[in-house]
Amino acid sequence: MDVTACEQWTALASRVARGGVAALTELFANEPSRTQTMSIELNVNGESILIDASKQNVDKEVFCELAGLAARTAVADARDALLSGAIVNTSEVQPALHTALRAPRGSRVEVNGVNVVDEVWSVRDRLTAFAHNVREGRMRGATGAQITDVVNIGIGGSDLGPALVYSALSTIHDPSVRVSFVSNIDPTNVTRVLADLDAASTLIVVCSKSFSTAETLANARIAQRWLADSIGGDAVAHHTIAVTVDAAKVAASGIPASTVLPMWSWVGGRYSVASAVNVCNAIAFGADVIDRFLGGMRAMDEHFATAPFERNAPMVLGLLGVWNRSFLGRGSHAVIPYADALALFPAYLQQLEMESNGKSVTSDGASLTFDTAPVIWGGVGTNAQHAFMQLLHQGTSVVPVTFVGVARSSTTRHAEHASLVSNMIAQSAALAFGQPHEDPARAMPGNRPSTTILLSSLTPATLGALIALFEHVVFVQGAVWGINSFDQWGVELGKKMAHDVAAELATGVPGASRDASSVHLQKWYLRHTSRA
Ligand code: F6P
Repeated sequence: MDVTACEQWTALASRVARGGVAALTELFANEPSRTQTMSIELNVNGESILIDASKQNVDKEVFCELAGLAARTAVADARDALLSGAIVNTSEVQPALHTALRAPRGSRVEVNGVNVVDEVWSVRDRLTAFAHNVREGRMRGATGAQITDVVNIGIGGSDLGPALVYSALSTIHDPSVRVSFVSNIDPTNVTRVLADLDAASTLIVVCSKSFSTAETLANARIAQRWLADSIGGDAVAHHTIAVTVDAAKVAASGIPASTVLPMWSWVGGRYSVASAVNVCNAIAFGADVIDRFLGGMRAMDEHFATAPFERNAPMVLGLLGVWNRSFLGRGSHAVIPYADALALFPAYLQQLEMESNGKSVTSDGASLTFDTAPVIWGGVGTNAQHAFMQLLHQGTSVVPVTFVGVARSSTTRHAEHASLVSNMIAQSAALAFGQPHEDPARAMPGNRPSTTILLSSLTPATLGALIALFEHVVFVQGAVWGINSFDQWGVELGKKMAHDVAAELATGVPGASRDASSVHLQKWYLRHTSRA
């Protein structure tokens, strides 16, 4: 279907052509119940999440057209297909069943006649037992030393999710085991991490859905060499586990098959935080904490599956994103957590949204005539206020913002925490309502949109719900745009070319068909590494 041909799309486009909606100051003055109507409060296992979208540039008419657009593009049917295990990743002929990873024990989601929930729980049980054994000191290093450190080696979804969860949960639970993350192929990364560790008490987790990612395999080899050099070759197998779909590939890497925690091809890498990819956090915090995290994700899944459109947070935020991007032309979206615990959230969302929806064709291959995913970026508040917020307030581009805050601090510094939250609320108000000034340099234009998400408290469950919320927001946007949010063919060409360039650098002879700029760069590089 050509979504631009439907009457709701045309109505929204013509609304923009006619000057869009009134300024936020006016909308708030004219709609006394705007805040209530455009806020959604969710109960997540005893905690609350408030989502206030009232400072977005929409009025009732636009909201109504967006709801119509969702109906016209059958987003609810697409959601139901997603949740039931239908083939939604059409280019790879796969379901996308990240929600099955947190489905209750005993429930059913079938893929090719097999109930994947049973498989999920059998891996969860193994993971729980393994994490427990490491935490309790029953699984020790080859020399008998207790495991005090875990190194997660992975990149993209095999790094960003576990790293976010670790940094967030470390602010509310003391990790029993420290976790370090190695992702980049820059050897500085792995070298610095390993330099601080004792091999005898370190467990290496090689996390790779495909077990073919060059960065991860290179870093795993370095870590295995480090183990062998420090405590002997026989220790390598004892100190290394893998998380992957492809157990056959693991065999060649010296990691015993018995310590492979499986995942499934129907879990996208960027949707894999609910899988065994999160094993490092089960070891650090205990599987019961991870169960609560998954319970929060499940609460959001249930909300997404059942809440009516206007009260359905992923639906509403997804549609507002479509409005900002495809109709108002907002090219970027800033994510600003006012919580150090969530400092990695912008980077996590960057992969989730940009790798999912950074597409120019529909799932049928038709070229899109409108803009899809914006550039996602951001940083933690209040630091952002002393760095990039100037542009958001007075720059020539309007950048929608998602603020994320936490009501109850995990510290006893309540006054400072109140100051942190005050800053967040003040920023959203300053963006929305601005302030006139006779000096143009000091005038604050206002009418700059934001959504504020407030967690009553940061808990494993609210963290899980927050992550699942955005998984579903991304899905809703992809469904409206008619794109496949679950493949990422755009990353393949660069990988292949890097492989070819590496071979050329090794021989010192650039490929005959290599472009002039790349030849120049290669020669310059070789000259400066004294190999030309
Ligand atoms: O190249 C992109 C990508 O495939 C991501 O989608 C994925 O999260 C990352 O690489 C890592 O992949 P893997 O877990 O297979 O090593």
